[in-house]
Amino acid sequence: MLRFCGFWFGLALAAQSSGPFAGSPVCGKCHPAQFESQSRSGHAHALSRASAHPLRTTWPLAATEARRAGKFRYRFDGLSLRVDDGADVLAVPMEWAFGAGQQAVTFVSRGDSRFYLEHYLSYFSKLKAFAPTPGQAGLRPSNLAEAAGLLYKIGDPVAGIDGCFECHSTGGLKDLTPAENGVRCEACHGPGAKHAESGGKAPVLNPRRMTASALNDACGRCHRPPASDPAKVDWNFAWNVRHQPVYLSQSACFVKSAGKLSCLTCHAPHEPLATSYDQKCVNCHATRAADCGPRDCAGCHMPRVSPEPPLSFTNHWIGIYRGGAGLKPAR
Ligand code: HEC
Ligand code: HEC
Ligand code: HEC
Ligand code: HEC
Ligand code: HEC
Ligand code: HEC
Ligand code: HEC
Repeated sequence: MLRFCGFWFGLALAAQSSGPFAGSPVCGKCHPAQFESQSRSGHAHALSRASAHPLRTTWPLAATEARRAGKFRYRFDGLSLRVDDGADVLAVPMEWAFGAGQQAVTFVSRGDSRFYLEHYLSYFSKLKAFAPTPGQAGLRPSNLAEAAGLLYKIGDPVAGIDGCFECHSTGGLKDLTPAENGVRCEACHGPGAKHAESGGKAPVLNPRRMTASALNDACGRCHRPPASDPAKVDWNFAWNVRHQPVYLSQSACFVKSAGKLSCLTCHAPHEPLATSYDQKCVNCHATRAADCGPRDCAGCHMPRVSPEPPLSFTNHWIGIYRGGAGLKPAR
């Protein structure tokens, strides 16, 4: 059974198409509207230096002392976490911040030339507090280093830290420092220096011309592409719900609409999430069942699933759900 776990995807990404990158400020000179709104999206803040994160001023207020296994104590000291076992203290800088913080922010810092540390404590926006990083709550540390968090190898194609940076940044990594933090223009449009230098004459990729399945794959480079064999996906494993292309591709809406339904039907790629999706549904469903309420179609037909509170994800397998079961439609 295929399981995609926690904040870790264990996926070797295909390299982006080649060519030089320009960087979003250059794109913004000629496309100011897209630049302005995209800069406010979660994509743009998917990765930053902790010292530059939009939520950094809320962290000290949220940072109450945490305890673990009766022995380890955690205390924040500016942008550094101090772990104390009663005898010694280990101070770890909060170097990188993964996640805009729509749900969570996870901190990562360089250990040595071989490892990165994923911190034990993440910030959860709904709680306005720090709590164990998903996947780490059940671990039993025996020393200070283990208590600080989980070590990820550098350069390991399956379980390395490189994957985190690749999905949360743009334009390639040099010594694990991204050309550009966050998911910016060229993560979706491909390298665009030639296009920029030519004043827009040289072509640049526009995903608008992609089919719905090709978009599932393009967005799925980071959001996970549909499984080639759906029978191998564990549909009862709640973490999998966060892989929208995998679930959307199972929907009758997707399968039976002759390619008219894609990620772009509901999501404007340069903007933050919409406040309502009802009109999108009604455009294709003028008539509905007697059970249907007039509003919040997605609330019933795309239920939110919580693999580990307080995190929750929208089930993109659009369907009829009954009896509170939100992982798989009743039919
Ligand atoms: C010097 C100005 C300039 C810069 C810099 C620039 N563009 Fe453009 N771009 C244009 C012009 C002009 C067009 C319209 C071309 C046309 O319609 O034939 C365009 C069109 C586009 C399109 C639509 C292409 C299509 O075929 O539908 C995309 C997407 C795009 N640009 C993305 C980018 C990205 C990403 C960057 C940064 C890497 C960028 N542009 C930098 C001038 C620029
Ligand atoms: C380079 C990897 C990457 C690509 C390509 C990508 N995404 Fe994302 N996407 C992310 C990450 C990482 C986040 C989490 C952002 C955060 O920290 O909140 C995200 C978040 C989102 C969100 C939540 C709202 C938001 O602004 O955070 C939506 C919707 C979304 N992506 C849709 C898409 C669609 C549609 C495509 C394809 C057109 C796409 N993404 C392509 C990595 C990617
Ligand atoms: C295969 C691509 C991929 C890899 C690898 C990856 N992420 Fe993500 N990450 C995403 C996407 C896409 C989202 C947003 C969509 C979602 O969670 O449903 C996301 C969301 C997050 C969020 C929540 C963001 C928010 O604003 O709420 C955090 C925190 C995060 N990732 C941290 C990490 C860390 C740390 C690693 C490495 C240990 C990692 N990610 C590896 C693609 C990836
Ligand atoms: C998450 C993927 C993604 C990111 C990041 C992204 N774009 Fe786009 N872009 C798209 C998609 C998808 C379309 C097609 C939009 C449509 O058909 O509605 C598009 C279309 C465009 C167009 C054509 C005109 C338009 O608005 O439809 C321009 C110009 C453009 N993008 C520029 C940019 C610039 C500049 C940035 C960075 C500030 C950027 N894009 C970031 C996915 C993305
Ligand atoms: C591009 C058009 C399109 C959009 C947009 C769309 N659907 Fe559908 N949907 C369809 C088609 C086509 C079917 C299959 C109808 C059939 O079997 O005759 C379908 C089927 C369904 C079903 C029945 C599912 C089943 O498994 O029997 C539900 C429920 C549904 N849609 C709800 C929604 C909701 C809620 C939205 C908005 C979040 C939505 N749809 C958006 C085209 C669409
Ligand atoms: C029929 C409409 C629809 C389509 C198509 C759709 N989404 Fe969504 N998406 C939603 C709704 C509704 C939400 C919940 C928004 C909210 O809670 O504010 C959502 C939320 C998200 C989120 C935020 C995390 C979460 O799980 O709540 C991401 C990321 C995302 N969608 C990615 C995608 C990608 C990638 C595609 C294409 C494979 C896609 N979506 C296609 C309706 C849609
Ligand atoms: C309160 C929950 C709820 C809301 C809100 C809701 N629905 Fe439904 N919907 C249902 C249930 C339950 C069924 C199954 C009815 C049945 O099997 O007779 C259904 C069935 C459907 C079907 C399949 C129709 C068929 O003939 O089998 C479609 C399409 C649909 N809904 C679309 C929508 C749209 C569009 C909206 C928003 C305007 C919406 N629903 C809002 C609960 C809801």
